Amino acid sequence: MKYGYFDHDNREYVIDRIDVPVSWTNYIGVKDMCGVFNHTAGGYLFYKSPEFHRITRFRPNGVPMDRPGHYVYVRDDETGEYWTLSWQPVGIDLKKAKYVCRHGLSYIKYQCEYSGIWGEQTLFIPLDDPVEVWNVALRNDSGRRRKLSVFAYVEFSFHHIQIDNQNFQMSLYASGSSYKDGIIELDLFYEENGFQFFTANNAADDAGGFDCLRDTFIGPYRTETNPIAVERGACTGSFELGGNHCGALRQCVELESGEEARLVFLLGEGNRQAGKKMREKYCANGFSAVDLSFKALGNFWKEKLDKLQISTPSAGMNAMINTWTLYQAEINVIFSRFASFIEVGGRTGLGYRDTSQDAMMVQHSNPEKSRSRLVELLKGLTTEGYGLHLFSPEWFEKRTEPSFKSPTVVPLPPKSQRVHGINDACADDALWLIPSIVEYIRETGDFGFADEKYAYADTFDPDTGEGEKETVYDHMKRILDFSARETGPHGICKGLRADWNDCLNLGGGESAMVSFLHHWALVHFCALGRRLGRDVAAYEKMAANIRETCERELWNGSWYTRGFTSSGRAIGSPDCKEGRVFMESNTWAVLSGAVSHEHGRAAMDAVDQFLYTPYGLKLCDPAYSEPDDEVGFVTRVYKGLKENAAIFSHPNPWAWAAEAVLGRGEQAMKFFDALCPYNQNDKIETRKAEPYMYCQFIAGPDHSAFGRAHHPFMTGSAGWSYFAATRFMLGIRPDFDNLIVDPCIPASWPSFTVRRVWRGAIYNITVENPQGVSKGVKECRLNGQSVICNDKGAQIPVQSVGSENLVTVVINT
Ligand code: GLC
Repeated sequence: MKYGYFDHDNREYVIDRIDVPVSWTNYIGVKDMCGVFNHTAGGYLFYKSPEFHRITRFRPNGVPMDRPGHYVYVRDDETGEYWTLSWQPVGIDLKKAKYVCRHGLSYIKYQCEYSGIWGEQTLFIPLDDPVEVWNVALRNDSGRRRKLSVFAYVEFSFHHIQIDNQNFQMSLYASGSSYKDGIIELDLFYEENGFQFFTANNAADDAGGFDCLRDTFIGPYRTETNPIAVERGACTGSFELGGNHCGALRQCVELESGEEARLVFLLGEGNRQAGKKMREKYCANGFSAVDLSFKALGNFWKEKLDKLQISTPSAGMNAMINTWTLYQAEINVIFSRFASFIEVGGRTGLGYRDTSQDAMMVQHSNPEKSRSRLVELLKGLTTEGYGLHLFSPEWFEKRTEPSFKSPTVVPLPPKSQRVHGINDACADDALWLIPSIVEYIRETGDFGFADEKYAYADTFDPDTGEGEKETVYDHMKRILDFSARETGPHGICKGLRADWNDCLNLGGGESAMVSFLHHWALVHFCALGRRLGRDVAAYEKMAANIRETCERELWNGSWYTRGFTSSGRAIGSPDCKEGRVFMESNTWAVLSGAVSHEHGRAAMDAVDQFLYTPYGLKLCDPAYSEPDDEVGFVTRVYKGLKENAAIFSHPNPWAWAAEAVLGRGEQAMKFFDALCPYNQNDKIETRKAEPYMYCQFIAGPDHSAFGRAHHPFMTGSAGWSYFAATRFMLGIRPDFDNLIVDPCIPASWPSFTVRRVWRGAIYNITVENPQGVSKGVKECRLNGQSVICNDKGAQIPVQSVGSENLVTVVINT
């Protein structure tokens, strides 16, 4: 069963059957202001922080589902009948109305045909202004003159989400609303400059044109489905100091047959004055600024996506890589992970491991943001060499005091709360940062970054803005030394609070995943060190030692053991009754470069044999059925959900990459295809979630809802899918001085092409596969000249900025 389709030309996912079983979401905003909305305009808006600067309210996990939102009501003033341009909240009978939602890149269009009126509401945030634009169009297709009232409605939130949800004593009496000059102003009185505005192109000058009080607009014993003001056809001009506030603006529209009307509403950051300025800008000259900024947003995404475009025999891979997966990965980097319908904004800050990985995935399309994330993470590293698991980057900036200490200002926590000890450290966190830094240098050629100096978190003084500074290169050494120090009785790295798998705590035991990751980080670090002419002998020795230890302690004769509990019990080994095979240890054994090819193949065969399902690879097998605290919290998770043998998406691309390393293109593609959301577009009765987004996990075969996907959008699976497909399967990898082409594809692919922008030059790459192999670059021509090919692939030297280059690569036996 399907609910929509991919519109490739417009880069939109079009939901043409609107009664989707769950919310299908999308994000608007690419800088400071951001909104997350579903296919029926339910959702919320915030400025910078979803926790401390929420603009509109959301009743998460509620009934009715996912309300309120940013709604446009249309009322027929002759009959009194009304509907919304998004299907909900009015919820017109779908036999009588046609509703479509187009999820685009940082915009959403809600379209409706009802009662002879076509209407469209587009939501987006211009690149350069903190204002949400509602671009509303109406057309009278009814063949007769119509008199309509259009109401735009939002429910305001107290900025501080915890206070908004728990402390009405404050939220209800410290916010006030007013209407003047056609602008609703929300004033959060305890807060310095705590204002929002809501205005429209055609400001009302009578009380029927606005309401600022939610309960007046909606009316008692009613909901957003049937607000009294809409039913009546007029607002009442309500506003008050204190209370629950809304922005409700009415515009009256008369349309001749065939006539169109355009209305613009603006919801923004700042006071009435700011609103006036925005209205002057966006509502003048036939809304030309709205059109221009919408176009600029389109160009913003086009420019990013143009950095890497592919054409392969796989429609799913083309659609995901060319548009949706990069989009998802970018949204994760821009907004961190804490604004969705699952994480509704009660947390902010950066998760160390998640952000380190996310920042590695969009370096070609967003080098500035990737770099600033890397710097934030470097400042969140301790002198011990572990990263702060969850921290706010502002903690490590010089403190600036607000002139007025409102109770809503979040004080800087004391040092003991900012900088946690080793007991709260996760063993993998900072290791991810090293490859991320090295890949950033490979992508950009910014070699000087390695010698920039940043202070360590535990030495930083927010009052002076100073601390003990060392180079980025030294930060990396401290991370590697920490993991070398923190090993257990088998010589394998300790898992500490957890490794990548939050729920596999091993009671303080040892983690194969961390040792393999340590090796991977060392491979990256040593390559950089050698390129910079530094002495890396000690770290090469460290890597050799890991290889030897891992093969000795973790190879169990069939695959790679996942780890050891504190009492020495092996996890993820053939002797285990439950949790016998794990994805992390087997994929990372191969990816890390620490194990033999032969063992790597066997390990990945076990992954296929025990973990493969038609919806992707399970995290482990068999699922745990009884609590066992020596293993960890994973044993207290229901079978088939989350880390307990669900199809956890994030590690799936590790398996594609591992298969590519092993040269098994068919296997890589089989695993890619199983997880690919695009391939499940017509299986929504099972999948339920968005087919254009990777989800955190899909219920595994042990669960009654096998195949149901959960937690869309905010997941590291997007970045990793992008990285594994482009760098490993298609094999386009920047190195310090060369662009490497080393694909591993299904033997049945006759060819594919990639357009890649690297350091300002364009590479139009065609890979030919005349003999139907998977891997093995034998020949490469750059603008007609042959270039070096070795066992690592074709080595294409950096070309001059602005040049466009033709690359042909042949893979062969
Ligand atoms: C969640 C967390 C991530 C963790 C993963 C597996 O996605 O955000 O940090 O690695 O779960 O437990």
